[in-house]
Amino acid sequence: MALTGAGISAESGIPTFRGAGGMWKRLRPEDLATPEAFTRDPKLVWEWYLWRRGLIARAEPNPGHYALARLEQRAPRFHLVTQNVDGLHERAGSRKILKLHGDIWEVRCTGCGLERRDERLAFDEMPPRCACGGLLRPAVVWFGEMLPADVWQRAERAVAETELLLVVGTSAVVYPAAGLVPLARRSGARIIEVNLDETPYSASVDCSLRGKAGELLPKLIP
Ligand code: OAD
Repeated sequence: MALTGAGISAESGIPTFRGAGGMWKRLRPEDLATPEAFTRDPKLVWEWYLWRRGLIARAEPNPGHYALARLEQRAPRFHLVTQNVDGLHERAGSRKILKLHGDIWEVRCTGCGLERRDERLAFDEMPPRCACGGLLRPAVVWFGEMLPADVWQRAERAVAETELLLVVGTSAVVYPAAGLVPLARRSGARIIEVNLDETPYSASVDCSLRGKAGELLPKLIP
């Protein structure tokens, strides 16, 4: 099983949330990715998401994404769990993906609840509205919101069964996603971390590889 975070897409040109280059207009993700921020200023929140959509639309998967797609082909019981909403794992060919934080290319109406794919990079009206008149929001998980229950349960089940967990490009500070790491440990899995920097779990994993996912993953999964 692999758990990925924003770091795996960094080499595709998509800024991470924390660390160098991770900010937009000097705002922290905790100030934008919340229901309160959306209630206060839906236009600002949408501007952030449209900026990210633009970057993602121009980006290509990198060798790190492709290496994990290869692993799925070789290991039938492999599960990919991602915190990323950018869709680059799918574009690299991964199919069995548990998206803990949703998908940036989907929208949900805050009025009627309708959820659908919407790949627009700009809207005529800002913030955009549903046909029912309700405000549309990105169908992603924000701070303070529950993860989709079915996806989370499947991730927990996968982690309980895994022999090896690859933790790639995540600062491992956002819960419950980061909690999958100690859960894997308690289930007896070996853990390999791939990260440019140290994380809260670096000292306790079996192997902490310091470097770029796009360079290290193809070596681990040639
Ligand atoms: P972060 O931005 O918190 O962390 C990115 C991690 O990737 C850091 O630990 C970097 O050291 C590492 N990194 C950067 N470039 C790398 C590279 N080329 N190769 C390997 N590692 C690299 O991103 P996440 O951990 O994904 O949630 O953040 C978790 C959640 O916080 C996100 O899903 C998002 C955010 O707010 C929501 O929006 C709910």
